[in-house]
Amino acid sequence: MFPKTCFAISALVSSALTQGCAEAARFGTLKITPNSIVLGQEVTFEVNFTCAIQLGYTPVYADYFLKVPASNNTGFDRFQPPIYFARRDGPSGVETFTRTFGPTYPNALYQVVLASTRAIITQSESYGQTLATGEVLLQVSVVQPSH
Ligand SMILES: *[C@@H]1O[C@H](CO)[C@@H](O)[C@H](O)[C@H]1NC(C)=O
Ligand SMILES: *[C@@H]1O[C@H](CO)[C@@H](O)[C@H](O)[C@H]1NC(C)=O
Repeated sequence: MFPKTCFAISALVSSALTQGCAEAARFGTLKITPNSIVLGQEVTFEVNFTCAIQLGYTPVYADYFLKVPASNNTGFDRFQPPIYFARRDGPSGVETFTRTFGPTYPNALYQVVLASTRAIITQSESYGQTLATGEVLLQVSVVQPSH
């Protein structure tokens, strides 16, 4: 009887936790401080994978880019490829890290991209692991430091 009650309680707790998780949080939620990137000044990234993990999207690693969206990337004279700035292995729960950005493309609009990669097929005898990636986008402005 006792073990049965225990099981019922833990099932309740885990379903209550999952209820607070929006499907949109499946690849993690991203917050940056300050919310404009000032070149040469430290920016803090806080990424919460709590819901991602609860929803079954546990990341193997997460990559971070600064991307010029296609609508703004008409490339005056060339295409502006995403600026890669971090990979975090096996992120769990809440991750915090900082970056300081150097020169970027002038006059561009930017998105921070969090690309969360997980294993969808863990192991198959012939092919090994299959990974899938999902993205979270955050509009951000990138500004020159004031002098
Ligand atoms: C992370 O997300 C979970 C689920 O939404 C929330 O309960 C928790 O407070 C968040 N943690 C932080 C530090 O924001
Ligand atoms: C991108 O957006 C900025 C700000 O609106 C604008 O000044 C610039 O001309 C745009 N560049 C391209 C290539 O669309």
